[in-house]
Amino acid sequence: MGVSLSAPHLLRAARGEVLDRPPVWMMRQAGRYMKAYRDLREKYPSFRDRSEIPEVAIEISLQPWRAFQPDGVILFSDIVTPLPGLGIEMDIAEGKGPIIQSPIRSQAQIDQLRPLEPEASLPFIKTILQALRTEVDNQSTVLGFVGAPWTLAAYAVEGKGSKTYSVIKNMAFSDPTVLHQLLAKFADAIAIYARYQIDCGAQVVQMFDSWAGQLSPQDYDVFALPYQQRVFEQVKQTHPDTPLILLVSGSAGVLERMGKSGADIVTVDWSVDMADARARLGKEVKVQGNLDPGVLFGSQEFIRDRIYDTVRKAGNWGHILNLGHGVLPTTPEENVAFFFETAKQLSLTAVT
Ligand code: CP3
Repeated sequence: MGVSLSAPHLLRAARGEVLDRPPVWMMRQAGRYMKAYRDLREKYPSFRDRSEIPEVAIEISLQPWRAFQPDGVILFSDIVTPLPGLGIEMDIAEGKGPIIQSPIRSQAQIDQLRPLEPEASLPFIKTILQALRTEVDNQSTVLGFVGAPWTLAAYAVEGKGSKTYSVIKNMAFSDPTVLHQLLAKFADAIAIYARYQIDCGAQVVQMFDSWAGQLSPQDYDVFALPYQQRVFEQVKQTHPDTPLILLVSGSAGVLERMGKSGADIVTVDWSVDMADARARLGKEVKVQGNLDPGVLFGSQEFIRDRIYDTVRKAGNWGHILNLGHGVLPTTPEENVAFFFETAKQLSLTAVT
């Protein structure tokens, strides 16, 4: 094994270096579209086991690393993983996502939440992140991730995924003081958790505010943005050099606002043209994205054209090539392989 002295490609791009090609990884790159993952899932049918038994979680993160050598290797976990440590019991149901046994609906429940003590309640995180750092040996960048306050609150209050967000919007618009207390407590817990992931080896941390795009821009400014800022500010206080990424799903209406969150890198989804995203975010903000995950159902020529188009529009600074959201479970593995091969052979001079 060679010892690499320089920082890995993704970390260098995230810090603002101009490179010969953009680094590439894929959201949800570990998961159901891979046969190796589906096989392991038969042996460990519970998602909590898969993500909380260190050897299993490590193996799952390494499956795409071994298959495709992405520039980023992400912790295999879920955004709701820290909730039991706050006193919110949860499970992750096959095909459904997180289920919260006793959804948070009252002031009394919020008062009972415990501060997060990650060493005690998330002991597996350190083992997993340390092993990933050792395994990839600076040939790739290890990413941690957390959920954002609004999105975690959406699960905690609704009790499960939602199409309409009726319960949390009812709280937001009829009893905002209660919701703001929950968001504040979540923000502080998430900051503690993100710092802990960095201390354990995460070199970049991505925060998923997946459901903040369900808010109108004026409500995003009240219920999402201030708490994103609160997390990022707290993390930057102790870990100023760790690049932080923000994702919002369906972000076209709030892209400029995402740029004000304090994130170093804004994930752009395919509802926005990458050239427009650059123009709207300005010169300081780095971007990640933004192919439609559905592109991976197309031909190789089609996939190649879309990669070139995105890279051309993003320019040769501050771009991490990715999909605009997670890879879809029915994506052919060979198309994922082709995506990575094509991206890793890119030389910016060839496409610009
Ligand atoms: O390897 C990686 O890229 C990490 C994968 C990852 C998972 N969850 C594993 C997972 C990540 C980044 C998450 C974060 C997460 N979890 C988000 C934010 C990302 C996003 O998609 O916006 C959200 C909203 C959740 C909540 C959640 N957990 C959902 C919506 C689901 C999917 C339900 C389903 O089955 O489609 C989950 C379960 C989950 N988390 C799966 C995986 C791989 C699927 C369950 C399985 O594979 O058995």
